[in-house]
Amino acid sequence: MNPVDTPLRDTIDEAGIAALVDTFYGKVRSDPDLGPVFEGAISDWGPHLGTMRRFWSSVMLRTASYHGTPMQKHAALPGLTPQLFDRWLVLFDRTAGELFVPELAAEFCTRAHRIARSLQLGLFYRP
Ligand code: HEM
Repeated sequence: MNPVDTPLRDTIDEAGIAALVDTFYGKVRSDPDLGPVFEGAISDWGPHLGTMRRFWSSVMLRTASYHGTPMQKHAALPGLTPQLFDRWLVLFDRTAGELFVPELAAEFCTRAHRIARSLQLGLFYRP
């Protein structure tokens, strides 16, 4: 049962993506390991949340509303580790499962894990 007893979302739309992004980064900010990494890099959360809504809208709804360079942004972050990526994915999976029916939560998680893997390949396993 999800905490507030609201029905799980059975469609992926902009409102659901906004709920996912806002809830997820709420958890990230209060996480003892991930929180400081984000707080060190982001001074104004409004634009970041907007970017992340557009990112997920582009990934899940193919709206092409996100234009950016995630690899460069993450390469510039000090202190990123594979363990932090694992934690990021735990919180993401949990949030998706709290908001969406299992089939749709799984779609988000599959995409997140795939992108996290490719970011990590670029960041940590360069020959
Ligand atoms: C340990 C894991 C992660 C950490 C600590 C992290 C942290 C951050 C931070 C601090 C920024 C803002 C950078 C800036 O504006 O200068 C950022 C941007 C972003 N992150 Fe992550 N991130 C992580 C994993 C991921 C994953 C797994 C994804 C995708 C599934 C992702 C997608 C993005 C995107 C799309 C941006 C926006 C880049 C842009 O400005 O165009 N991140 N991340």
